[in-house]
Amino acid sequence: MDGKRKFKGVIIMGGMTRRKFVKAGAVGAGALIVGVNQLGAQEAQPKLLRVGFVGVGGRGGGLLQTALGLPGIEVVAICDTNPTRLNNALAFVERRVGKRPQGYGEDRDAFAYRKLLERDDIDCLVIATPCNWHGRMYVDCLNARKHFYGEKPIAITVREIEMIQEAHKRNPDVVVQIGFQWAASMARSDIVRKIREGAIGELIEGRFHRYNGWGGLRGWFSRRELSGDWMLEQAVHEFNLLWWVTQAHPFAAYAKGRRNVIEPENKERNITDYYTAVLEYPNGFIVHYTHGWISPPGYTGMSCRLIGTKGGADLLDCTIQLRGQQQPIRGEGAGGDTKEHMQNFFDAVRARDPKMVYAGIENGIAASYVGLMIRKSLDEGRRVTFEEVLQDKGELPPLIVVD
Ligand SMILES: NC(=O)c1ccc[n+]([C@@H]2O[C@H](COP(=O)([O-])OP(=O)(O)OC[C@H]3O[C@@H](n4cnc5c(N)ncnc54)[C@H](O)[C@@H]3O)[C@@H](O)[C@H]2O)c1
Repeated sequence: MDGKRKFKGVIIMGGMTRRKFVKAGAVGAGALIVGVNQLGAQEAQPKLLRVGFVGVGGRGGGLLQTALGLPGIEVVAICDTNPTRLNNALAFVERRVGKRPQGYGEDRDAFAYRKLLERDDIDCLVIATPCNWHGRMYVDCLNARKHFYGEKPIAITVREIEMIQEAHKRNPDVVVQIGFQWAASMARSDIVRKIREGAIGELIEGRFHRYNGWGGLRGWFSRRELSGDWMLEQAVHEFNLLWWVTQAHPFAAYAKGRRNVIEPENKERNITDYYTAVLEYPNGFIVHYTHGWISPPGYTGMSCRLIGTKGGADLLDCTIQLRGQQQPIRGEGAGGDTKEHMQNFFDAVRARDPKMVYAGIENGIAASYVGLMIRKSLDEGRRVTFEEVLQDKGELPPLIVVD
């Protein structure tokens, strides 16, 4: 992947296009079987998938609930190293569908998830563990040829990214969806397509920010070796949007920020409470991004906007505003979020088509690279290049259990 690849709206290719959506719909339909509803009418039922869950905390619990609401999904196994969460999740499924999945990890065995990889009767996994586990688990899934929906970020070091790339090269048929659920909005996809076709002209500036309330998440989130720090744990959502539009890596980044603003007495807390970054892309396109956890009530919010020579685009609102026009252009198509993202993953698994997913390995890697560039720049107090980041492989994260 070449960070210096030239791009203008019209010449960027790759990612999710309208054609790809049409294809996705067509293949999904091929995986349907016909059932009969209570009124005797025939209706299409998707092929039953047997799914395992790994990590059922805040996010994994939500994903579990969402998956149970989708047609053709049977949750057959759940793994969590926190016995309370494990048992709550098992009981939840039992209450919902009358059948208790098999539980794993009750003995706090951090590698219990590998037992799910060995089971041939499990079609795919949904993984939502802390970020220090992602690289290891995703490599293991690829090597075991087990399809997986894996939460972001795909990895928090270059070393893990390389391991994932290698495992993926050897097992290209594994279906992988990374948890960038914003990619599941058809309206957003339409706006991205329009930008790439030149609707707002050449890109000049990206105006991005995420202002969170004071303090925020604690526990493993506040330990960089486990979370990767906010530019990986959280901001990768925004960086995936940038990748989606540009299909390019920034060739350099400069960031300035502060730690120890929140809870300065907490010596374990080593994440960046606030930072501002400038990302330099090819052809003079510059993105400024501010991210932090320091806002008082009423000062929180987000923006993911692009300015081009002909107008601007709001990637969250899914609109384009052209110069000289009063009304914005709205993205065509339905919205979509986690439910649609999971549905897309399950459709891709049924079709055995890794290209059908809205946000695959390439998205995960591109987004993590931006986070890694910002983190390195913050640490070294200087502008860093993409090539330098590729050389700085980093230590593999500690594979310890945290809950
Ligand atoms: N896509 C999104 O919008 C979104 C939102 C929130 C969180 N997330 C991501 O989801 C992931 C989980 O976040 P969370 O908020 O649910 O964290 P959490 O701490 O609430 O849950 C993590 C769970 O993983 C379990 N776990 C830890 N190590 C394990 C192991 N080796 N095997 C099995 N289980 C293990 C823990 O016991 C815990 O129950 C993170 O990667 C986070 O970035 C994504």
